[in-house]
Amino acid sequence: MTGYFIAFEGGEGVGKSTQEALLADFLTEIGKTVIRTREPGGTPAAEQIRDTVLSREHEGMNPQSEALLFAAARGDHVARVIRPAIARGDVVICDRFIDSSIAYQGYARALGPDRVRDLSMWATGGLLPNLTIVLTLDPEVSMKRVINPDRMEAEPMQYHRDVADAFIEIAALDPGRYLVVDATGSKEEIAEVIRQRVMQELN
Ligand code: TYD
Repeated sequence: MTGYFIAFEGGEGVGKSTQEALLADFLTEIGKTVIRTREPGGTPAAEQIRDTVLSREHEGMNPQSEALLFAAARGDHVARVIRPAIARGDVVICDRFIDSSIAYQGYARALGPDRVRDLSMWATGGLLPNLTIVLTLDPEVSMKRVINPDRMEAEPMQYHRDVADAFIEIAALDPGRYLVVDATGSKEEIAEVIRQRVMQELN
């Protein structure tokens, strides 16, 4: 028995958590065992790394160190939560995964997408989601929804524009593994598009 791994990606304030919750409820209703988790985080060690890497106390952190911390958190999360869940046959729904590192550190911090991808692949033993759902929304709109910004959210608007463009570029490189959804639609419309694609993949 092998499970299924779904990641949600997108800029800040695009409505990922709402859609993750709706999809998890739907899959649970049809009898799947669903694990919802998030990055950075998902294990005690990775949650501690999250506190460090997102803290406003660390403004100006060295970008390479930032990339290493996200990868370190991901390695622990994959080894101790995501891989075991997939092995049990569960559906894993994860808020952010490798593409957040590629978009935020690889593109927006200009560390290079390939290097950041390789780092994450090394940390996880090469685990990729079966399907990645990218929610797209103009950062000028989505950033207005962010209250109490963390260190990444406090970056200037151009940074968030670079992130938004990066997600679209990443998805276009491998369309079979992605669903890109315009997040300007209603909550229900977006959920329906996601449900349809997930059901296609699971059947
Ligand atoms: P998120 O959980 O979406 O923040 P919030 O709970 O405040 O909505 O994501 C945390 C932040 O970390 C977000 O700004 C994106 C950033 N991030 C990276 O820069 N690289 C990564 O690899 C990951 C997983 C997240």
